[in-house]
Amino acid sequence: MKIAVSGKGGAGKSTVSAQLVRCFTLNELPVFAVDADPDANLGLVLGLDPEKIEKLRPLVELQDVIEAKNFGGGTLVDLNPDVDDVLEDYTLREGLIRFLKMGSIKQGGSACYCKENSFLNAVLTAMLLDREEGVVLDMSAGIEHLTRGTARGVEVMLVVVEPTRAGVSTAKSVDRLAADLKINQIYFVGNKIRNDQDRAYLESQLLPERFAGMIPFSEQVLEKARRGEALVSKQEDFLPGLEKIFEMVTGR
Ligand SMILES: Nc1ncnc2c1ncn2[C@@H]1O[C@H](COP(=O)(O)OP(=O)(O)O)[C@@H](O)[C@H]1O
Ligand SMILES: [Mg+2]
Repeated sequence: MKIAVSGKGGAGKSTVSAQLVRCFTLNELPVFAVDADPDANLGLVLGLDPEKIEKLRPLVELQDVIEAKNFGGGTLVDLNPDVDDVLEDYTLREGLIRFLKMGSIKQGGSACYCKENSFLNAVLTAMLLDREEGVVLDMSAGIEHLTRGTARGVEVMLVVVEPTRAGVSTAKSVDRLAADLKINQIYFVGNKIRNDQDRAYLESQLLPERFAGMIPFSEQVLEKARRGEALVSKQEDFLPGLEKIFEMVTGR
């Protein structure tokens, strides 16, 4: 099962992503946990060792590997080099989890970052279309790492949304981007829901049937975030509704 998670900054993408990753491991399923948000915090929310996270090089910065694989360079361009070794060497392993950082898609001025971007694309293709493991992609609202090609591998896109006007507005734009990429299943996940009004507000703005679930506001989650503690280490740590969402999207 390949899941992408998007939404506005602060909406709870990494919180939801980390909990989904733990759902995979509790079901004894291997999973790639991919931090594809430039404002990266998935590793910390997952409770991985901060020093190791810091040391892990984002894929986009692997100049040596990108050159060695001859991405977009030279006369003999290999359009589809094997990147399985990258998934071995540049991921942080913890049990069934393999964590990796994508780094930002590079754009700008006259410079061409074709090599870097085609490398990221190859790694995403491998994870989303070739490999058996599950994938949880923690993405920014721009979902710019995805292309028509790689989006074919995304089975479900979850758009995390807080009950605010700004949150809804961003969620709608992510929904449009994901639909343009022809992702079949796009669901909203309401987060930090405090009462029935919050729920009703979101349903009135985004239609009830578009929601995979609603997650309550949790003091415990906030307290853990303040202390910098891992969000999920045991079954009891799951936010209400999260396991249901996992079951729904994976059909388990
Ligand atoms: N259901 C929730 N209840 C309480 N706090 C939450 C909840 N979901 C997320 N948070 C808190 O909101 C903040 C932003 O969440 P985070 O997952 O890092 O967002 P994002 O990755 O979308 O930027 C964090 O401090 C997190 O602990
Ligand atoms: Mg985040």
